[in-house]
Amino acid sequence: MIAERSGAKLNLSLDVTGRLPGGYHAVRSVMQGTDLWDELELEPGGEAWQAPSNLRYLPSGAQNLAVRAAVLFREETGLGPAGGVIRLKKNIPVCGGLGGGSGNAAAVLRAMNRLTGAGLSDGELRSLAEKLGSDVPFCVSGGTMLAEGRGEVLTPLPPLPDCGIVVCRPDFSSSTPELFAALDKSRLRVHPDTEGMIAALSAGDLEGVAKRCFNVFETALARRPAALVAETKNTLLDLGALGACMSGTGSAVFGLFLDRPAAAEAAAVLTDRGGVCFVCGPV
Ligand code: C5P
Repeated sequence: MIAERSGAKLNLSLDVTGRLPGGYHAVRSVMQGTDLWDELELEPGGEAWQAPSNLRYLPSGAQNLAVRAAVLFREETGLGPAGGVIRLKKNIPVCGGLGGGSGNAAAVLRAMNRLTGAGLSDGELRSLAEKLGSDVPFCVSGGTMLAEGRGEVLTPLPPLPDCGIVVCRPDFSSSTPELFAALDKSRLRVHPDTEGMIAALSAGDLEGVAKRCFNVFETALARRPAALVAETKNTLLDLGALGACMSGTGSAVFGLFLDRPAAAEAAAVLTDRGGVCFVCGPV
C-alpha cells in the first residue's frame, strides 16, 4: 500500500489573456499550494482500477480522474499494475475551483512513480499530468508558481510568506466550460496586476500580494453567484482578511490573513453564521 496526499490549490490571481487552438484559453495565474489535504491510499491488485471515497456521489470508476491517472501511467510507461484500489479521503470541497480532483490525479502519478520505481522526474510527471487536465501539472509539485499557456507552462515563484488562509464555500456550483464561454462574451476590462503580485512575492510582502488577489472569472458570474461571492469576500475582509478572491472558476472564495490564529478566529465567526469554511496555510 502506498499513502499519498494532495493539497487544495488556490489561484491567488487569475487572468485570461486570449484563446488557444483546440478551444482552450490562455491563462496567466499565480497558483499556490495549501495544506488543506485530501488523503489517498493506493493498493495494487485485480484487473481494473477503482477509486472509492468518503463521498458516495463521486464516481469511483473510469470517470474518476484518479483512476484515469493510474491507467495513463501504465499506458505511457508500460509499468505498474493493471488494477487496484485508490481509497480517497476527500477533505477538499468538490467542484470548488480548488483543484481537488486534479490534486488526487497528481498524487496518483507520484504514487505510481514510487510503486514502480520508474524514476520519472517532476518534469516528466508534469508532461503526463497535462494529458489529464490543465491544473494537474501544477498539482504535481505545488508550491507557488506562475501558470501560463493552458495552465501547464509553469514557472516557480518565490513562496507566499507564511500566513493563515480561510477557504469558504458559497452555496452555488459553477461549470468551468460555461464560465469560460461567459467570459468570451463579456468584454474584459479589468485584469489582475500579475507583475505587481510577483514583485510583492519577491519582496516577501504578504499585504502586497493580498491586495492584488483578483480573479477575472468573478466578472463573468451570473447575478446570484456574483452576489454570493461579493458577500463572502466582504465578510472575510470585515473579519480582517488582507485580501480575498474566488479561486479558479469557483465557487470557493479565500481570504489571506496575517497568521493562522487570525484565520481561525474569522473561520469560527463564519461557521457560527452557518457558512462552510476551512482554515489552512500555504505549502
Ligand atoms: O483542462 P480541463 O479539463 O481542466 O478543462 C476543462 C474545460 O475548461 C475545458 O474543456 C475548456 O472548456 C476549459 N478550459 C479552457 N482553457 C483553459 C483551461 C480550461 O478553456 N486554459
